[in-house]
This record gives sequence, C-alpha cells and structure tokens, in this order.
Amino acid sequence: MKILLLADIHANWPALAAIREPFDACFCLGDLVEYGADAASCIDWVQQNATAAIRGNHDHALIEAVPTKPTAGGMKQLAWATRPLNRRQLNSRQLKFLARLPVTQTLVLGGKRFHLVHATPRDPLDEYLQDDPQGWNARLQGVEADFVCVGHTHIPLHLTFGDTQLINPGSVGQPRDGDPRAAYAVVEDGVVRFERVEYDIDAAVESIRNSGLDEKTAWYAEQTLRNGGRPTSVS
Ligand SMILES: [Fe+2]
Repeated sequence: MKILLLADIHANWPALAAIREPFDACFCLGDLVEYGADAASCIDWVQQNATAAIRGNHDHALIEAVPTKPTAGGMKQLAWATRPLNRRQLNSRQLKFLARLPVTQTLVLGGKRFHLVHATPRDPLDEYLQDDPQGWNARLQGVEADFVCVGHTHIPLHLTFGDTQLINPGSVGQPRDGDPRAAYAVVEDGVVRFERVEYDIDAAVESIRNSGLDEKTAWYAEQTLRNGGRPTSVS
C-alpha cells in the first residue's frame, strides 16, 4: 500500500502536475487555494484523485470570504489578492467541494490508522508549529493514530513519538524551506519517504503575472516561488 501525502498545493497547477509518483491512495492535507493563480485545475485533480482531503486555513478563508487588509503586505497581501481571483476561477461544483472539506479526518488504510489535520490537533486550521518535538508531543496527547499527517508550515517534518509518527510532507505549491522544488511524501508499507520534484516555475509565474494582480503582489509571489520561501525584501 503506497500512500501519497500532499499539502499546501496553493493553486499551483504546474507544481502539482509535476508529481508523477504512482500511488494506491492519496491524502490531501489542505490549502488547495490562494497564493497561486490556477485554483480550478488543482481542485479538479484533488477531487478526482484524493482518497481523503481536509480543509486548510486558506480553503476556509476563501469559502467564508475572510477579510484581510489589502495593505497587509507579504503573504497576507498575497492571500488577500488571490482570494477573489481564485473564487472567480471556481464553478459551483468546485466551490461546493471546498466548502464540504472536513476540518479533520481519521481513517484506516493498509492496517494503519491515519489522522489528517492541516495545522495541529489543538487548532486544526491556524496554529503554526514547526520543528518543536515538545510542542508536538503535547498536541498529540489523546490522538490515537499510527500516522498524524499535517501541513500548514510549508516545511517538511518527521517526528516519532512512541508508536505515532508525525509527518509534514512540505508544500507542493509554495515551499518555504529554501528549496523551490515541489515537496511531497510517500508512506509505503509503513515506511515514510520525503521527495522533491522540479517543476515549471516559469509557467506558474506566468499564470500569476497574467492574472491581473498588481505588480508588487505579483513580484512577491514570483520571488517566493523562485526562492523557495519568503523574499528578504519587497521592492
Ligand atoms: Fe498553506
């Protein structure tokens, strides 16, 4: 049983399309939309291919039209700008798919129990917890699972607590660990493997540039994709 873990696709279709790993099952760990300019293709792929998919904070923000200050700058500005853009790209079926994504999901596959949550079990949508074994240990108390699969930080992580493994596959569509390649993970017969794949960043940038975003926001999006993380300065 080979399970593909994908997180934080963020409307980056060229990145998602570059992942050619065969799989028996696929878990999508939230944030299908915002930051990128190809929301519809990403949602269609997940709807057709994911065995299970959960809600990320950006899926929630788009569906609930969460307000963000237009002058917030940085990632918040990019989210604010791409929220209405992505919403316009989605038809009623795609919007309904996003709206129905559960916040968490637990399922048994190949004899292993998987708990899926975008951020943390304590705060499923928003809490930002990186490589903090003590913090994760506290948050996994009471969670009965062989594998807890998360996203949200856009940085790969693998921690083991007794019989429970915590896996963050990193981000497909907007990596933030300095490596711009699309990130994903595979759990095959209980063994975890992290992978990176090069994709057509120029195509993702072109899509953003052609979407009508203002120059400053488009520049920020482009630099983030090309650098594998946040730009150090904003021009
Ligand atoms: Fe994200």
